[in-house]
Amino acid sequence: SKLGILLSGRGSNFLAIADSIANDQLKGCEIAVVISNKADAPGLAAAQERGLKAVAIEARGRKRAEHDEEIVATLRAHGVDLVCLAGYMRLLSPEFVQAFPQRILNIHPSLLPAFPGLDAQQQAFDYGVQVAGCTVHFVDEQLDHGVIVLQKTVTILEGDDAHALSERVLEQEHIAYSEAIARVVSGQYTIEGRRYIKR
Ligand code: GRF
Repeated sequence: SKLGILLSGRGSNFLAIADSIANDQLKGCEIAVVISNKADAPGLAAAQERGLKAVAIEARGRKRAEHDEEIVATLRAHGVDLVCLAGYMRLLSPEFVQAFPQRILNIHPSLLPAFPGLDAQQQAFDYGVQVAGCTVHFVDEQLDHGVIVLQKTVTILEGDDAHALSERVLEQEHIAYSEAIARVVSGQYTIEGRRYIKR
């Protein structure tokens, strides 16, 4: 499988995926291109350092659909068949979602459908949850909404704060994303309604 990674920032999830590939834990996968909507994203520099194809495609006041068209064209030009959003802080246009049906994954730092949107770990902590976690899901046209591939839980500890919780959630994200990619790439699943069913 040829993966296309989209990011906007730090890129720790991207690096976890790259490490899984380097360690032969994601057999048959390669990262064909890393795209950032921010030219100064640390994740983009990290991709370059690893010798990966790294491209900045900034929105620069363009309409979402127009910006996304360039991204889709770049993904296609690199033969991408699975798009992985890894801290990509923009909504995708319907055209983008439809260009890769059930072939776009996202990771979100909460147990969806709880706490979609920004600062999910802080939202969860402030709500007083006792179990938090992360979710890898297919991307559809609604924010943090598509079919769930995999979730991992993180227990709140005594004396926790949102920062400490975020760090433990992030550790689980790094494990979860590669596991989810392996599942999707294996093709050993069906989707019935909202349910992801392993075969
Ligand atoms: C992660 O918490 C991810 O769940 C969320 O954005 C953050 C990105 O972190 N979507 P990184 O850039 O992968 O380090």
